[in-house]
Amino acid sequence: MGTMDFHHIVRLLLNILSFLVAGGLVLYSYVRWACRASRGSPSAVFFTSLQGKHLVITGGSSGIGYSIAKQALEEGAYVTLVARNCERLQAAKESLQREVLGLLSSKIILKAVDVSDSEATTAAIQEAYAWRPIDVLVCNAGVVFPGHFDEVSITQLDDAMKINVMGSVYPVHAALPLMKQRNLSNPCSIVFLSSIAGMNQCYGGNIYAATKYAQKGLAEVLRWELMPYNIRVHAVCPGFVDTPMSADAELPTRLGEIARAMNQYDKKKMDTSDHVAACTLAGVKKGTFLITTSSRGHWMAILARGPTPEGSIATNLWELSLAIPARLLSFKDRTLMTNVMMTMVTPSKQKTI
Ligand SMILES: NC(=O)c1ccc[n+]([C@@H]2O[C@H](COP(=O)([O-])OP(=O)(O)OC[C@H]3O[C@@H](n4cnc5c(N)ncnc54)[C@H](OP(=O)(O)O)[C@@H]3O)[C@@H](O)[C@H]2O)c1
Repeated sequence: MGTMDFHHIVRLLLNILSFLVAGGLVLYSYVRWACRASRGSPSAVFFTSLQGKHLVITGGSSGIGYSIAKQALEEGAYVTLVARNCERLQAAKESLQREVLGLLSSKIILKAVDVSDSEATTAAIQEAYAWRPIDVLVCNAGVVFPGHFDEVSITQLDDAMKINVMGSVYPVHAALPLMKQRNLSNPCSIVFLSSIAGMNQCYGGNIYAATKYAQKGLAEVLRWELMPYNIRVHAVCPGFVDTPMSADAELPTRLGEIARAMNQYDKKKMDTSDHVAACTLAGVKKGTFLITTSSRGHWMAILARGPTPEGSIATNLWELSLAIPARLLSFKDRTLMTNVMMTMVTPSKQKTI
C-alpha cells in the first residue's frame, strides 16, 4: 500500500512537471511569436547613440525637458529648446553651457513659442528642421491646475487641454511630413511626456489626468501608424518628479492633504528630473514604447499596458509573471483610497475642504 502511494505521488508530480514544462514552452513560443510579429518592420533599428542627432524639446527650459537636453548634449546631440519665456530660455542655454563640458553654443537653438499656438508652433518646428533634420521630437511642455474639478476655472481647463494635448499635437503634426521624407535607414522618435496620471486616478489632478491619458492614447495610435516609416513613438510615464511643476501641484490645503494620501505622494520618494531624463533617453535608444521611471510606474504599466505587448520577450514574460500580483496589489490601493475618501471626506468635513 505504501509503495502504491509512493508510485502514485511520483506519477502525479511527473505529470504536473510535464504539464508545467509543456505549458511554459507553449507560453514562451507564443510570446516569442507575438514579439516577432510586433517587431516585423524596419523599426527594429534602434539608436545606438545620440551623437550628432537633433532633439527638439518643448518645455526645454525647465525640469524634465532641461535634463533631457543636458544629457543629450553630453552625448554630442544638437538641441532646439522650445518654451514661452525668452529670459528663461536664455538662462537655460547659459546654464547648459556651464554644465556640459566643452559645449559649443552653436549646438543649441532657442524658439520662444507657445505650443498652444498652432501657427507659431508649426513655424518653429519647420525652422528647427531647416537648421537640422529632426531625429527626436520630445513633446514635454505641460502645465497643471490642481483643484476639485468644479473649482478649476473654464480658462484653466481650456489652457490645460490646449497646452498639454494640442501643445503635443501641433509639433507632431508639423514634424511628421518632414520626418516621413527621411530615409528609412534614419530612424526618428516622437516622445510624449505623459505620466502615471495617464494610467491611473490622480486626485486633485482631474483635467491634468485627462490630458495625460490623451497623450498616451495618441501615442498608442501613432505607434502603429508610424511603424512603416521607422518612426518610433514613446509614452513616458513618470510618477512625481522634483521640478517646479510638482511644487505647483503641492497644495498646502486640505485638498492637498487628501491628494497626497490618495496619490500616495511622498516627497522623499520623488524622482529627480535627471533620473527621468536618463530613463527617457535609454527607452528612446532601445525603442521602448511605454517608458516608466519608478517601481510604482512599472506596476502601473503591467496593469495598464492593454492588448499591445512590448517588443522584448523577456519583458513580456516578466510582466506576465507579475500580472496576478499586480492585480492583487491593486486591491490594496482600492482599500486605501476608499479609506481615505471615507475618513477624510466625511459630510461634516466637506465644507472645510
Ligand atoms: N513634475 C512631475 O511630477 C511630472 C510627473 C509626470 C509627468 N510630468 C510631465 O513632464 C512634463 C514636464 O514637466 P516638468 O515637471 O519638467 O515641468 P516644469 O519644470 O514646470 O517645466 C515646464 C516647461 O514647459 C514650458 N511650457 C509650459 N507651458 C508652455 C507653453 N504653453 N508653450 C511652450 N512651453 C511651455 C515651461 O516654460 P515656459 O513657462 O517659459 O513656457 C517649462 O519649460 C510635463 O508634460 C508634465 O506633465 C511631470
